[in-house]
Amino acid sequence: MNRTQPIAIVILALIILPYRAVAEPGDAARGERMYRACLACHSLEPNRNMTGPSLAEVWNRKSGSLASFPRYSPVLKSAGIIWTDDTLDEWIKDPQHFIPGNTMIFPGMKDTRQRADLLAFLKDATQPGHAPKTAQGGSQMGGMMMGGGAVPNLKRLDPTDRVQSINHCGDTYKVATADGKIRDFWERNLRFKTDVSDEGPQKGAPAFVGAGMMGDRADVIFASPEEISGFIAQKCSRFLLGHTPQPRYRRSCPLRERPASNLRVTARD
Ligand code: HEC
Repeated sequence: MNRTQPIAIVILALIILPYRAVAEPGDAARGERMYRACLACHSLEPNRNMTGPSLAEVWNRKSGSLASFPRYSPVLKSAGIIWTDDTLDEWIKDPQHFIPGNTMIFPGMKDTRQRADLLAFLKDATQPGHAPKTAQGGSQMGGMMMGGGAVPNLKRLDPTDRVQSINHCGDTYKVATADGKIRDFWERNLRFKTDVSDEGPQKGAPAFVGAGMMGDRADVIFASPEEISGFIAQKCSRFLLGHTPQPRYRRSCPLRERPASNLRVTARD
């Protein structure tokens, strides 16, 4: 062995090693942390759709083909791509480059290592029955207050979160919750939403969800669209006597034609 050989081996190793590191399979534990980038919009539970479709069993599924998800863009539906290690890697790297015009608002994950980790995690977690509880957007993001994938179940609400009555007067909504609190909102700062799923509120018991850090904005989530206008009383009395249920809904309620989720209503009068 001449003297230059060991040096040559070291140099060769320095060149080759970084490439080997990239080619190694991803680390699923690290990938679970990467999945936080997806959590706000995707669930791993079968057919639990949020902003985006459930990712359960996504491997080998055709793009835009989950029957229970009604909000695919035409481009994703007609792309005819089968989701595999390679196509998912391309998609996550730069969704708008891969399928231009799709409606997934995600800038892309440029780091090869991070994508490998994420896909290692997803490949296992999307198998039937493998979805880890922590990746379901449970309580780790701060429950009711955060949008970060935490979609709280609204069936059983604490009195502080259960809306009893809503009055509209001038430009102001007065929202009374079951704990006796009444909060005033400028009408443009209160959003009315619906959740008709199993996780939505009980009929007649809309949920109050703080939506802004400053407490000046909030959401009220109803069990169905037709409940909304019946629940809001037009009155300017100084004292709120609680909600009087109004069983009659207007027949020609235009809200019925709209999709039931992410509905936003702004009062005009
Ligand atoms: C802001 C919300 C949002 C975020 C964040 C997001 N997605 Fe999506 N995702 C969507 C929407 C909406 C669609 C449907 C797009 C369309 O129809 O054009 C989608 C579609 C997909 C699809 C295609 C599914 C199918 O059935 O064809 C995959 C796979 C996917 N996303 C994976 C991910 C991964 C992995 C992440 C995290 C790195 C992520 N998404 C982050 C909203 C999001």
